[in-house]
Amino acid sequence: MKATHLFLLTILFNATALFAQKKPVSTASQKMNTFIGGLMAKMTVDEKIGQLNLLTGGEATTGAAVSTNVEVKIKNGQVGGIFSLTTPARIRKAQEIAVTQTRLKIPIIFGQDVIHGYKTTFPIPLGLSCTWDLPLIQRTARIAAIEATADGLNWTFSPMVDVSRDPRWGRISEGSGEDTYLGSEIAKAMVRGYQGDDLSKYNTMMACVKHFALYGAAEAGRDYNTTDMSLDRMYNEYLPPYKAAIDAGAGSVMTSFNDINGVPATANKWLMTDLLRKQWGFNGFVVTDYTAVNELIDHGLGDLQTVSALSLNAGVDMDMVGEGFLTTLKKSLKEGKVTIQQIDRACRLVLEAKYKLGLFEDPFRYCDEERARTEILKPEHLTFAREVAGQSFVLLKNDKNLLPLKKSGTVALIGPLADTGPNMPGTWSVNSDLVNTKSLLQGMQEVLGSHVKVLHSLGSNLVSDTAYQKRATMFGRDIPRDNRPEEEIISEAVDIAKKSDVVIAALGESSEMSGESSSRTNLELPDVQRRLLHALLRTGKPVVLVLFSGRPLVLTWEQANVPAILNVWFGGTEAAKAITDVVFGDVNPSGKLTTTFPQNVGQIPLYYSHKNTGRPLGEGMWFSKFRSNYLDVSNEPLYPFGYGLSYTTFGYSNLVLNGRNFKAGQSITASVTVKNTGDKAGKEIVQLYLQDLVGSSTRPVKQLKGFQKISLEPGESKVVSFKISATDLKFYNSALKYVAEPGDFKVFIGGNSRDVLTSQFTFSL
Ligand code: BGC
Repeated sequence: MKATHLFLLTILFNATALFAQKKPVSTASQKMNTFIGGLMAKMTVDEKIGQLNLLTGGEATTGAAVSTNVEVKIKNGQVGGIFSLTTPARIRKAQEIAVTQTRLKIPIIFGQDVIHGYKTTFPIPLGLSCTWDLPLIQRTARIAAIEATADGLNWTFSPMVDVSRDPRWGRISEGSGEDTYLGSEIAKAMVRGYQGDDLSKYNTMMACVKHFALYGAAEAGRDYNTTDMSLDRMYNEYLPPYKAAIDAGAGSVMTSFNDINGVPATANKWLMTDLLRKQWGFNGFVVTDYTAVNELIDHGLGDLQTVSALSLNAGVDMDMVGEGFLTTLKKSLKEGKVTIQQIDRACRLVLEAKYKLGLFEDPFRYCDEERARTEILKPEHLTFAREVAGQSFVLLKNDKNLLPLKKSGTVALIGPLADTGPNMPGTWSVNSDLVNTKSLLQGMQEVLGSHVKVLHSLGSNLVSDTAYQKRATMFGRDIPRDNRPEEEIISEAVDIAKKSDVVIAALGESSEMSGESSSRTNLELPDVQRRLLHALLRTGKPVVLVLFSGRPLVLTWEQANVPAILNVWFGGTEAAKAITDVVFGDVNPSGKLTTTFPQNVGQIPLYYSHKNTGRPLGEGMWFSKFRSNYLDVSNEPLYPFGYGLSYTTFGYSNLVLNGRNFKAGQSITASVTVKNTGDKAGKEIVQLYLQDLVGSSTRPVKQLKGFQKISLEPGESKVVSFKISATDLKFYNSALKYVAEPGDFKVFIGGNSRDVLTSQFTFSL
């Protein structure tokens, strides 16, 4: 072992010793231990290994391998869990085989990617995070759990808590953006929403934190690519959201596909045993991602038997789809490559999950046809979905208050995203009713009725290249292609625009242009859409860009040329109505970005919480020789983290601290007055950032440490206060100790990470 590795391990084991507190064993867990112990005493090695096998029911697959002969395998006791099989009837059928036709009658756990809602689909997670509304986010997870459990499921592969600062990575859409603190708060809210306070209830489900770990830092934003990261960055920036979800009680963890500093996550003992279990005290089970054990072969770690043993020994308990555990572990046991203790550990953890879900008590707890009929797509769920979507949109620009539009006259709704229902729910909406989800055109017509005449035209294809469009519109989310010459399609749209009072251009990405395996290198609007936008602007009509996207796009040209831009992500089942609500003023937009929008792709990774460097550029400067900057573009983002406009305006004044110093064990309060200075009621997200001015390691120029979402009537003011204690100042130092260091700190409060009021305090021990 290299000296550096030894050094790190020493640090980690010391930390382990510090963190490992012996908790008293409760009666409930004693009962569980006795039950599982009794059961395992009866199990053969084959039966134990069978519990470690997770197969797919085939309703949604994300890899080349698909499970076969599932029923036979259940009968043979070779299945611990099934995912992507839904409805009480189908699940009951599979469960019946498990609990009547196998020797030990062990129930199956049923999982699914319930990522942002179930049938009632909420905005994609990146959009949801832009609400900055934790109770609301928690409620989306609660509703998802109610609907999913009504349809037979008891385990969700969510929350996805991967911090990402690279919008080229398509899966940035599945997470909560770039920030560690906000991501951690959202992770907790999601776990609480899914799991409630009692996992064995008929309408709660087990969460699975993914993708462990650091998947969001894939090199060059290319999916599944290598991650190489310092421990400083890991501990301070990327790991906290996973830990937050685990501290909130998440019952399971999913490994990530990527290589981490030379050891792929799925074979990474440091990650899954030393960090996750010993340091963090995680006591649930670890499942791999889709065929991730088998992929260790391509990572170059050996053949299937070798990598399966590696993975089990590293701390994986359940093998998703690849069947490496099922087919090789017994041989490895005989050959001494794994021990029975490792198999027992994994088996026990899987059985415990089933026990916690109440499946041994009643394996059909989640198979209630009546609930499936009455609790899915309930009107109140849909009403809530519309409200949530409305709060997730971010108003990026609104020149001369072009928005909201009047509910009268004629509107031209133009663009490839204007009339496509299946593209509204966004990535990972496998349970959404794509066929019946309303397109923006349908939603507008329904909401506006006869008040507004809505004319429509495609205007342009999604992208000019047919093969690209095919890749970008998979899984039933097609956007019709118009094969006429581009000029003809555009001129038709221009004619319609000319007959209208205002143009709404529904442009951007299709839903499959983000999400898994949807990395991109060019983040501008596709050329063909840009040409349409040019033509629409040339008509002289006011143009509102309603932008669909699963990531920050590069909108430098649009910011300079289009008067109003509303980023609507993918808003879910009720997106069409929610967009109409906002565009026509029934809802005042309040979303704020949780991910920085760059001026161009070359600036990536660009995030507010960066380090200062030894040659920082002075504030407000663009270029200075021998400073850290670019020749061709300023260091600034196009839209900073935390940014978003409203139909009203907010003024910030009077940032005061109730002292200049505080000591460990005490706190200090920072307050600011926020006033609605416009003429409409609105919601504002007030953000608190801190900077540690001198540290034993370099500290970021700003870090989000608190936020409050408030509502203000026109003219109304509120004093918003944040209590700051030593916990808010803590970070992992170079010895990986979590410490608050004495010294001076800056406080910033504002409506985004750039436009802030500033003050300062001193902290002493
Ligand atoms: C994804 C996971 C997902 C799994 C099961 C994988 O391809 O990376 O996020 O949970 O498939 O569908």
